[in-house]
Amino acid sequence: MTTASAPGKIILFGEHAVVYGRPAIAAPVTQVHADVEVKDSPQHGIWIDAPDISLQAELTTLPRSHPLSAIIISTLNTLGVASRLSLAIHIHSSIPVASGLGSGAAVSVAIVRALSAHLGHPLADDQVNELAYGTERLYHGTPSGIDNTVITYACPVYFVKGRTIETLLVGAPFTIVIGDTGIPAPTKESVADVRRLWQADLARWEKVFDDVGELARRARQAIEMGDATLLGELMDLNHELLQSLTVSNPDLDRLVHVALITGALGAKLSGGGRGGNMIALVKPDRAEIVANALRTVGAKNTIITTIK
Ligand code: MEV
Repeated sequence: MTTASAPGKIILFGEHAVVYGRPAIAAPVTQVHADVEVKDSPQHGIWIDAPDISLQAELTTLPRSHPLSAIIISTLNTLGVASRLSLAIHIHSSIPVASGLGSGAAVSVAIVRALSAHLGHPLADDQVNELAYGTERLYHGTPSGIDNTVITYACPVYFVKGRTIETLLVGAPFTIVIGDTGIPAPTKESVADVRRLWQADLARWEKVFDDVGELARRARQAIEMGDATLLGELMDLNHELLQSLTVSNPDLDRLVHVALITGALGAKLSGGGRGGNMIALVKPDRAEIVANALRTVGAKNTIITTIK
């Protein structure tokens, strides 16, 4: 039996604008993860068991566009292995689906790693990343590639679409509270809506993307210098720009507001928006207080994580 695990992720700065070539910053969240187990099966075929999404099926019975069959087939093709195999693949993820925490990318990364290792050819990170990116297109339509990248390399990244990844040097560890609205919001939809906005008024939204990109550049310096106060201010500004892009909603805005009035240094939605998760930057001794306040006003779950 071979196992592999991949973390969730948060976008600290630059979601949506990153799809249009602006820089963004993301970090792994190890408190949640996707876990995949591959073993030989007594039955012929590739048997997929994913109880979280109530899926139990043999590979060839799934449409080829299904993200799970797509990632398995593309991995087998890369390995040059015929799909006439007898394998059982068990998938479990504690990352909530459609929550902006990268559940799809984490499942893909864990599948590629477990499957390639089980078949005796563990793939290198850049190959894992490329395969996971291919499947992200099925989940997200026109993904930037930031989710699969931060999850594959499992460290804070400064990401520009199409460029070699840059890992971030964190000047001083900082604490983030993640608050889940509990509202599932497929990234594919918010990304498509932002595209429609952009197509209707290119000049206006290009300027907003430029402003978001500038925040990500300044945030990189703040992270490298360990300047949490500045980082918090930049998060607030990024949230305002995301509001103008219409990807926030009243639940996210309420959680952001409550985080700020209970002592967060800054807060914003994280990921595709319209639901899913928000993040708040806090001093470590405020983390529990902010997390409790978020749950009191309706957050379905909170996670406290340290970026280092
Ligand atoms: C999703 O985590 C981040 C988005 O910018 C989409 C993408 O970059 O592919 C909303």
